Amino acid sequence: MVIHWLLLKVVVLGAVLGPYHNPLAAEAAADDPITKPGCRSTCGNLSIPYPFGSRDSDPSCRNGPSSFEVDCDDSTDPPTPYWYDKSSNLQILNISLEDHEMRITMFIGQDCYNSAPYAARSRTIPSLVSGQFPISNTKNKFTGVGCDTAVYFLDRRGDFAFGCMSLCNDIAEVTNGSCSGIGCCETSIPRNSFGYNISIASFKNHTDVLRFNNCSYAFVAEIGFYNFSSGDLWRLELDKAPLVLDWAVGDKNCSIAKKSGDYMCTNNTRCTDAENGRGYKCACLKGFHGNPYLVNGCQDIDECADSNKNQCDEVNGQCTNVVGNYTCSCRKGYHGDGWKDRQGCTANASHLVRILVGVGAGIAVLLFSAGFLYLGIQKMKLIRLKEHYFKQNGGLLLQQQLHERDRTTNTTKIFSAEELEKATNNYDVSRIVGRGGYGTVYKGLLPNDTVVAIKKSKLVDKTQIEQFVNEVIVLSQINHRNVVKLLGCCLETEVPLLVYEFVNNGTLFDHIHNRNKSFKMSWDTRLRIASDTAGVLSYLHSAASIPIIHRDVKSTNILLDDNYTAKVSDFGASRLVPLDQAELSTLVQGTLGYLDPEYLQTNQLTEKSDVYSFGVVLVELITGKKALSFDRPEKERNLAMHFLSALKNNRLFQIVDGVIANEGNDEQVREIANVAKRCLMVKGEERPTMREVAIELEGFKEKSSHPWMSNVDLHGEEALHLLGEKTHPTVYMDGIETMNTGASDSMKNLVMTPVNSGR
Ligand SMILES: *[C@@H]1O[C@H](CO)[C@@H](O)[C@H](O)[C@H]1NC(C)=O
Ligand SMILES: *[C@@H]1O[C@H](CO)[C@@H](O)[C@H](O)[C@H]1NC(C)=O
Ligand SMILES: *[C@@H]1O[C@H](CO)[C@@H](O)[C@H](O)[C@H]1NC(C)=O
Ligand SMILES: *[C@@H]1O[C@H](CO)[C@@H](O)[C@H](O)[C@H]1NC(C)=O
Ligand SMILES: *[C@@H]1O[C@H](CO)[C@@H](O)[C@H](O)[C@H]1NC(C)=O
Ligand SMILES: *[C@@H]1O[C@H](CO)[C@@H](O)[C@H](O)[C@H]1NC(C)=O
Ligand SMILES: *[C@@H]1O[C@H](CO)[C@@H](O)[C@H](O)[C@H]1NC(C)=O
Ligand SMILES: *[C@@H]1O[C@H](CO)[C@@H](O)[C@H](O)[C@H]1NC(C)=O
Ligand SMILES: *[C@@H]1O[C@H](CO)[C@@H](O)[C@H](O)[C@H]1NC(C)=O
Ligand SMILES: *[C@@H]1O[C@H](CO)[C@@H](O)[C@H](O)[C@H]1NC(C)=O
Repeated sequence: MVIHWLLLKVVVLGAVLGPYHNPLAAEAAADDPITKPGCRSTCGNLSIPYPFGSRDSDPSCRNGPSSFEVDCDDSTDPPTPYWYDKSSNLQILNISLEDHEMRITMFIGQDCYNSAPYAARSRTIPSLVSGQFPISNTKNKFTGVGCDTAVYFLDRRGDFAFGCMSLCNDIAEVTNGSCSGIGCCETSIPRNSFGYNISIASFKNHTDVLRFNNCSYAFVAEIGFYNFSSGDLWRLELDKAPLVLDWAVGDKNCSIAKKSGDYMCTNNTRCTDAENGRGYKCACLKGFHGNPYLVNGCQDIDECADSNKNQCDEVNGQCTNVVGNYTCSCRKGYHGDGWKDRQGCTANASHLVRILVGVGAGIAVLLFSAGFLYLGIQKMKLIRLKEHYFKQNGGLLLQQQLHERDRTTNTTKIFSAEELEKATNNYDVSRIVGRGGYGTVYKGLLPNDTVVAIKKSKLVDKTQIEQFVNEVIVLSQINHRNVVKLLGCCLETEVPLLVYEFVNNGTLFDHIHNRNKSFKMSWDTRLRIASDTAGVLSYLHSAASIPIIHRDVKSTNILLDDNYTAKVSDFGASRLVPLDQAELSTLVQGTLGYLDPEYLQTNQLTEKSDVYSFGVVLVELITGKKALSFDRPEKERNLAMHFLSALKNNRLFQIVDGVIANEGNDEQVREIANVAKRCLMVKGEERPTMREVAIELEGFKEKSSHPWMSNVDLHGEEALHLLGEKTHPTVYMDGIETMNTGASDSMKNLVMTPVNSGR
């Protein structure tokens, strides 16, 4: 216990100390060498970074050309640095490695006249030879001052010249601070000028303006240095002005220089071509500082030494310097990303508890209970979240449906999210076998090698949840060989998932309309599929204790297995109709071409809507044509209409599928066509019931030449009973219509354990 207490103390102490700083690193950083070892690095206030070097040092202290020479006059105090040589009279003000600039002082040119006799003239005409350093075109400008003045900048090599002029008659005309041609004029400097001669001219020897302006001035100076005022016309007090030169090394661009032996950029640098003049410039990479021309000149910046240079959480974060960069993390006991402008660091729950314990044994107990309370709240939050998901996924509805079921037999399974992810190879696109109205269907392989179809809702909106729950409820009540079997579902995921038996031979639609498959669809097969489908619909409508209306009967919802056994699928839109309610008012749902016109008009849902849709499927089987096709002429687009009109005009055999037309079953075809015709009656009440249709088709099937195919026992054992015999009141929950069922022993096949059972 004592040891434990000490540990806690240490932790608390650590929390107070804050981030770790390395003062040594900061000092080292301040003292970076700028010159080669043993070379003079300053002259008065000027620091002389390599490739510049002092004239009195060893020649190896500077880069070859004399442009990089600094002549230091130590006789003054402080010593005065000159460019090249003191005799050049070009004083160096400073040298910048970062900007690759050198600032020097340059003379101002003047041209003065006195009053008598006329034309007595005194002039100072400066010229500059800047060697290999071009005059900065961005930092300087050329200025002329005077009222009878024309000034010229003549490029040293005679390549170009330019200038400006300024005329005025009275001092009252000039404006202080404005240099636009009255008393003062200025112009910018072009690139690639390596020196100049200045020329100053007058038009009238200043005769007209002598009373206030007897001199003209001209100079190249750093932008911002000179500000014109009217007093300057009488006498300009300055004789020198700063001028900025650009500098670079070599006379080739980077790509050429890199290949040459004397490339000057060292490790951790980047090279850029000079924009003005020739040569290239070196600079340290981001995260490094120092002199990029010296070996090991660019040193890693220790961003962690200075909290202004890093973005780590200052209180609980930890900065780790890496070469060229740094990373932020959190101190032990804290979590987060460590960046102050992002997550920062927050105390771990456990750490918090530890700190609290460290405060004092007396209140420790109290705080422990606080901790427990905190954890309790967390746990409660978790439970609430689970509840939310469960509720969102219709868990409550399902629970209501299933909670009293027998749990010993286990045919409908609750799958875990991982299980299904694995089965579908993480919902790989290659596994998609279909896209239904309510989601995507994937082919999945369970660990026990069972192939399954997994239906995944596209979006989790409320209506789709409703469809999902509906389908589970409906399917959980049916166990029929001609209905696709629901194997289980998954409620854990955000998107609900249903797992079905995999019916491997595709849809009836495909078999009818795909030329390569339809020729295998003999009349007998078609008849059997029709009869099977009619049988199962009849069962849904009447044999079940609570009628179920499928609502979306169509050839794409009838799946076929290897033996061409029909399996009706997609009960997402189906409705359970309580017996005491013959019709149900609902939103119109279904597929164009199959949709019952009466239902479309009245919104009154009855079993007869399925009869109509089935009639269309029957016609599809007979004709091999699609229920709705825009490839056909307008009158023939709707298959049902087209069929009825053909029948009326006695042209049935013109539209019968060629595959069956030659089978010699004309009489049967005609009779089935008649059944279809009755199914397609506009008035629902004139249509036969599904049960009548099924019996009729069953009769044909028995008459058919292949008695072995007769395998459906309409009311046989396979058609399992549904819920209890009584009807139950419909309850409405969250706007979702569902059945409040009683317990039933007959639903042995279905066991669902909702995720939060046991609450
Ligand atoms: C040089 O430094 C001294 C003192 O540090 C300062 O007084 C002086 O103005 C500086 N001279 C220049 C040209 O910057
Ligand atoms: C160079 O000198 C000028 C004027 O003396 C000053 O404003 C500037 O900051 C200096 N630049 C550097 C890099 O020292
Ligand atoms: C120009 O005028 C000023 C002011 O009167 C005078 O000091 C200066 O000597 C004159 N310059 C010449 C060249 O006469
Ligand atoms: C500039 O002046 C120098 C001497 O003062 C002269 O040799 C050179 O030719 C002049 N250049 C131009 C372009 O006027
Ligand atoms: C130049 O001088 C004028 C007045 O003489 C002043 O208003 C202006 O701000 C100055 N401009 C600069 C850049 O110093
Ligand atoms: C200006 O002075 C020069 C002599 O220095 C003379 O030749 C010229 O004619 C004068 N121009 C005017 C307009 O007075
Ligand atoms: C312009 O500046 C001069 C000083 O150089 C001053 O004497 C004069 O009054 C100023 N003029 C105006 C209009 O501000
Ligand atoms: C570098 O210079 C060479 C020859 O002067 C030229 O061919 C090349 O395009 C230049 N490269 C760049 C990036 O400017
Ligand atoms: C520059 O770095 C490379 C590897 O990054 C190394 O091999 C080389 O020796 C270094 N050169 C110098 C001059 O430090
Ligand atoms: C430094 O690291 C951060 C991420 O940690 C990255 O965004 C940034 O680009 C890096 N900086 C450099 C110079 O590599």
